[in-house]
Amino acid sequence: MEETLEDFMEQEETKDSDEPSLSPYNSPFRSTRLHIQRSNVCSRAYFVVVMVFFHVYILNVIALLLYVHYNNGPGDLGSRDGAAVASVGESRGPLPPPAPGPRDLPVEDHSPSFSLPRIEGIRVGHVQRVSLVPDRTHEMKTLSLKPLLFEIPGFLSEEECRVVVQLAQLKGLMESQAPAPSHGQEESNQPLLSLSTEEVFSLLDLNQDGLLQKQEIISHSHSRDGTWLSPHNLRQILTGLEDCPTGMLNLENFRRVYDVSQRPGKQQNGMVRNQFKQRSKHTWLYQGLGSHHVLHALRNRVISLTHLPSALVELSEPLQVIRYEHGDFSNAHYDSSHSHSESTCTHTRLAGNSSAPGEVSCRYLTVLFYLTSIKEGGETTFPVADNRTYDEQALVQDGVDLTDTQETCDRGNLRLKPTAGTALLWYNHLSDGRGWMGELDEYSLHGDCPARHGVKWVANSWVNVDPDQQVQARYQRLVAQRHQAKSGMEEHYQPLSHSDLHQDL
Ligand SMILES: *[C@@H]1O[C@H](CO)[C@@H](O)[C@H](O)[C@H]1NC(C)=O
Ligand SMILES: *[C@@H]1O[C@H](CO)[C@@H](O)[C@H](O)[C@H]1NC(C)=O
Repeated sequence: MEETLEDFMEQEETKDSDEPSLSPYNSPFRSTRLHIQRSNVCSRAYFVVVMVFFHVYILNVIALLLYVHYNNGPGDLGSRDGAAVASVGESRGPLPPPAPGPRDLPVEDHSPSFSLPRIEGIRVGHVQRVSLVPDRTHEMKTLSLKPLLFEIPGFLSEEECRVVVQLAQLKGLMESQAPAPSHGQEESNQPLLSLSTEEVFSLLDLNQDGLLQKQEIISHSHSRDGTWLSPHNLRQILTGLEDCPTGMLNLENFRRVYDVSQRPGKQQNGMVRNQFKQRSKHTWLYQGLGSHHVLHALRNRVISLTHLPSALVELSEPLQVIRYEHGDFSNAHYDSSHSHSESTCTHTRLAGNSSAPGEVSCRYLTVLFYLTSIKEGGETTFPVADNRTYDEQALVQDGVDLTDTQETCDRGNLRLKPTAGTALLWYNHLSDGRGWMGELDEYSLHGDCPARHGVKWVANSWVNVDPDQQVQARYQRLVAQRHQAKSGMEEHYQPLSHSDLHQDL
């Protein structure tokens, strides 16, 4: 632009300089005047152009600052320093309150338009502050971008770690189901847990009124691998319940229904087990209404951390607590599954397509809590974290199997030493780019190195999401309807509660 201006001035000058030939006598004067005029006009134009640019620039900066301020400001008090736990693109809608009362649980957030925020990793080593509890903030450090993995030290206090371990011991642990190398295949048909029918009834009876309502069964429709009741059992119980004229089961009716569902040979185990090997013991701790306050607090902290709709987190699997004794391990695996049209998610099974033959775990993200520190071994390994490329074939190469944690733990890209109270958060799925859950993130492969010295306790909190947003919405509507239908009755059993309810852990 400057050049055009110069050119223009140049032209003016040549036009002018032709004239003096006609009147040579005033030529010196004219040339001086021209000179002055030229430099005047030139600097003014230049000045105007610079000032226009300058103002536009300043206005842009102000507009940008205002935009950032109003987008992050009011809703996000916890992350004031700008290292906001910001969510991507369209998920910028109003986020749900972090810790709602449990009673309004399934009623909200079941509109099909809700979306799944994701925390931004920024870069490996980036630290952002998050507000999880009223009296302090926590630091959250990005450990890898593939998968998106964070570490939050001090997520649980020492006391809370101890309580969770004690509750797990109180409830009793069972062998993790996938057989260890030394164990035979025939084991898989045996009942998981030697609970009496009365105990199962009591565990299912969340409000402890001596009757099983449909809602109570549905709320247990959780995980395939390891939950003490298989989805098949739950369906049988549900069918029995629907056959009952009262729509509820007392202990006597339950015994009849449950014994049928437990009969061997009737187990329809449609899942093909893969080669996955692990050795550990685990149990499940219910975290909802009436559970121990530490478990309840942990769930609310997960909601604050992930910024996910609270209903989604509250309808997810119970907390899984795992104990690894000397030599115990798990090979590298995925917590979630590729979505196939011929399988449904376990958690939405009752609302989903019951004619689909397979059933898989659908876990958007994992929050892993280290409940103890361990002197040696027992690291969590992510063998392909932030690898440049992922190639399934390259996992097993030249006789080296990167998923075999007993042999190749030291070759993984990322290994984390358990420290009591630290939480890890990672996304098992990518985003689908429209604010919902996308494909399984193949980099989220992880396993547990053998514990060498000491006992390792960890807990897993999974957030279940159905890749089909419609099915997830339908499931949440179903639970909400049950909840509302039940809430009329709620008044008369609510008072007889809390000490009894703690039985459920
Ligand atoms: C349910 O699954 C079957 C078998 O996979 C499929 O043919 C059918 O279209 C599915 N129905 C719905 C409503 O998704
Ligand atoms: C990790 O990245 C390297 C370099 O791109 C590649 O050669 C290797 O196969 C990758 N490993 C896996 C398991 O994909």
